[in-house]
Amino acid sequence: MRKQIAAANWKMNCTFQEGEKLLDDILGAEIELANHQLAIFAVPYPYLLMTRSEVEEEQNYYVASQNCHHKKSGAYTGEVSAAMLHSMNVNYCVVGHSERREYNGETNAMLAEKVNLCFENFITPIFCCGEPLNIREAGTQNDYVAAQLKESLFHLPADKVKNIVIAYEPIWAIGTGKTASTEQAQEIHQYLRSVIAGQYGEEVANEIPILYGGSVKANNAKELFSCADVDGGLVGGASLVAGDFIEIIKALK
Ligand code: 13P
Repeated sequence: MRKQIAAANWKMNCTFQEGEKLLDDILGAEIELANHQLAIFAVPYPYLLMTRSEVEEEQNYYVASQNCHHKKSGAYTGEVSAAMLHSMNVNYCVVGHSERREYNGETNAMLAEKVNLCFENFITPIFCCGEPLNIREAGTQNDYVAAQLKESLFHLPADKVKNIVIAYEPIWAIGTGKTASTEQAQEIHQYLRSVIAGQYGEEVANEIPILYGGSVKANNAKELFSCADVDGGLVGGASLVAGDFIEIIKALK
């Protein structure tokens, strides 16, 4: 079975102590993950080591960075490189979250560089795509997300791209409490998989987990994850409440 993933994105929330407690509470639930199930915590940079040591002993629990820089190294004050993350044993990195695209001017071309640097450093990118509301209203979301994949991923060889995780996050559903319907989620996830299949073939496309993000909650996770092409979620708000994220992990297929 394809990997099924519950990924928490804390964004810029929680003090260090709150983060430690949140992890303790979630891990305290002792949810045993099956071989194909993963729980990943994308935490702020200063919490990476603490989170890594919290999850180290747990089967299929991982830490992720929320970003990395698109250059290898050098005079980029305040930035963090993929090589630095690798040197801290961080194995996942969120790349191209819509908030970074919007507030930090990240382009598809820059994200292609980040994805390359992640792979060079043995880090699995959790590559985010998704359309804004005006694109959804115009009905051109498929073309929009396909261009995001093409411009940031399709330079990669199949043996690299098959290791990626994709997160489809419609911007109109992020932090709004407005979730895509299961029909909308399944339809675009299936479309994304078909775009990947068109470039790399069915076998590769069938291996790539495609997560849904955008107001995933304890009470809608099971329904969303039940869609054939939805392989878990990338969760913001609800990942900050231990009881809610526990339910979301338990909702994995
Ligand atoms: P919410 O779950 O708060 O809508 O955030 C989704 C998200 O952006 C996860 O990366």
